[in-house]
Amino acid sequence: MKVVLVNGSPRKEGCTYTGLCIIKDQLAKNEVDAEIYQVGNKPVAGCIACLSCRKTGKCVFNDDAVNIVAEEFRKADGIILGSAVHFASATGAATSFFDRLFYSIGLESIKLKFGASIVSCRRGGASATFDQLNKYFTIAQMPIVSSCYWNQIHGYTPEDVYKDEEGVRTLRILANNMAYLIKCKKAANIAEPEVPPRVMTNFIR
Ligand SMILES: Cc1cc2nc3c(=O)[nH]c(=O)nc-3n(C[C@H](O)[C@H](O)[C@H](O)COP(=O)(O)O)c2cc1C
Repeated sequence: MKVVLVNGSPRKEGCTYTGLCIIKDQLAKNEVDAEIYQVGNKPVAGCIACLSCRKTGKCVFNDDAVNIVAEEFRKADGIILGSAVHFASATGAATSFFDRLFYSIGLESIKLKFGASIVSCRRGGASATFDQLNKYFTIAQMPIVSSCYWNQIHGYTPEDVYKDEEGVRTLRILANNMAYLIKCKKAANIAEPEVPPRVMTNFIR
């Protein structure tokens, strides 16, 4: 059982990373492996809508970790997206990275894997960013794992995060719930439902 976590913050070991580590530790207590990928501290190109991924199943850009993390997503049981809040949204790097990854991965390959997102902000914009990240799951047939509050932590430094005791508790409960649901799915071992043939309706007549 494995969960892949992605840090879309430019700060490699900042608040978002601290939150992801709290989740990773809690997953370990539930005997679930976890790996954190740092993707937000380098320039990340946005999607150029070239559609070459439609033919190759990979993003055309190979100078960052989009294709590597996509492969990890395909193997994972759970996926957690993390971002700092920048101007009440996910960071530019996180948005570019997740846009390209979810557009190129072939969403069928991750359907019914469990997803969750966490956001870190100093003060405001957490809910909007949380909603933004969760949109990646709801277009991919991925059940979203929830906690006892929206998954946000507050602060400017990693030490601040630990002072946000309610935020820390929220992340630990999230990790417990993610582990529980992964185990339930494995134990149930039920065939996945069939997907009706694809249709594209672009609202043009
Ligand atoms: C460019 C930029 C924009 C930011 N915008 C917001 C914001 O809209 N709301 C907020 O509360 N904090 C904002 N912050 C602060 C960070 O979101 C906050 O300190 C966060 O916890 C940092 O997480 P990190 O250490 O993982 O990068 C901003 C920081 C930067 C650098």
